[in-house]
This record gives sequence, structure tokens and C-alpha cells, in this order.
Amino acid sequence: MPTKSALAQQLAVVAGFDNPRASLEQYRTPPDLAAHLVHTADLQGDIQSRTVVDLGCGTGMLALGAALRSPARVVGLDIDPAPLSTARGNEHKVGSTTSVSWIRADATAAPLCPPVEETTVVMNPPFGAQSDNEHADRRFLETAAAIAGVSYSIHNEGSQTFVESFAADNGGEVTHAFETEFDLPRQFDFHESDRQAITAEVYRIDWA
Ligand SMILES: C[S@@+](CC[C@H](N)C(=O)[O-])C[C@H]1O[C@@H](n2cnc3c(N)ncnc32)[C@H](O)[C@@H]1O
Repeated sequence: MPTKSALAQQLAVVAGFDNPRASLEQYRTPPDLAAHLVHTADLQGDIQSRTVVDLGCGTGMLALGAALRSPARVVGLDIDPAPLSTARGNEHKVGSTTSVSWIRADATAAPLCPPVEETTVVMNPPFGAQSDNEHADRRFLETAAAIAGVSYSIHNEGSQTFVESFAADNGGEVTHAFETEFDLPRQFDFHESDRQAITAEVYRIDWA
């Protein structure tokens, strides 16, 4: 298996959002974090030969990370068509051997019906932190619970109790978790400095 840092280097070419929409919390997951998530999933046997679905794929960072690790198929799904067009360009730049199906759809409406036991969801959903819509990520987790055997999701700091109870209430179990920090470049009016340090938490949930 290639290294995590090799994957991060491959993903460094993935372009972010041209005109990011604050209401959809559009920012690109940093390549290091995406590589960490996908490499961890690959080590757990959750990528190779499986269907991988990226809910809220944006410009494709997580979907493309998975596509570079020999899945059976990858679906990247976003409600906004603009980043999907960038994602297509990113797919060419990354040059993965597995092609990705890019779909415009609402991730909170469980828009796919793949074979649950063979499906892994990866996602960095909107947190709802800026829109008084606390736990906007809940509806993405509902979809993950409905369509996947296992999911990897990025949440804001302090989500442990929420994610663990949500998983337990929906027949799942958190099996792995790690905390990470990354810099978010200034891109929205409400950002007060050029870079903002974000602490995030990543959870693997087994829904079987
Ligand atoms: C934090 S960004 C993550 C983008 C990308 N997954 C990445 O890791 O770089 C959240 C993404 O969720 C998308 N999104 C927000 N609400 C959505 C919905 N209801 N259905 C599908 N996508 C949605 C946004 O357009 C945005 O691309």
C-alpha cells in the first residue's frame, strides 16, 4: 500500500472552490487530512474493492483520495453543480485509475441505494456552526446510516458525545476516532483573520 504522505502529495493538485458559498460551508479539506482519513480507511479494509460514496464532495478531495486506492467504484455527490465541474477537472489532474461518478443531489435525502454491506461513506459535511443550524451534520449521518456499512466523517470540535449517541441510537458504533487541526484560509466575510486554525474530529462508524 502506498504511504499516507504519497497520497497527500497526489491530492495537493486538487483545486478548491472558485466562488465558495458560506451557506453551504464550502471549503476544501486539506490534502494532509484527506490523505489521513483515506489511508486510515484503506488500512481498515474499507476502500479496496468497495463502493465509496463522498457525501458533499465539493471539488472532490475525499472522493479522489479514495479513487487512488483501488475501490470498486466511487460516487461523489454535491448539491451545488459548480464544484462538481471543478471536481471533474481535478479528476483529470489526479489521474486516478478508477473513474468517479459525479452526481448533483441533496445528500440529506439519501439519494442512492448501493449495496449497504459493500459501501463506505466518506464525508466532510457542513457543521452548521455559522448558520444557527447546529449539527447540520446530523442529516448527513442519517444518510450514511441508511446507505453504508461503514462511514468516515469529519466533525467540528466537541462532537464526540453527539456522534457516539447518534451512532448508538441508529444501530452503529464508533470504532475509531482522531482529532486534527488545520488552517482554513480566509474566504468568507465573517472570517476575521487570513488563516483560522480549526480543530476537527474524525470518526469511523460501523453501521453493520
Ligand atoms: C466542508 S465542504 C467539503 C467539501 C469536500 N468534501 C472536501 O472535503 O473538500 C461541504 C460540502 O457539502 C456540500 N453540501 C452542503 N449541503 C449539501 C447537501 N444538502 N447535499 C449535498 N451536498 C451538500 C457543499 O456544497 C460543500 O461542497
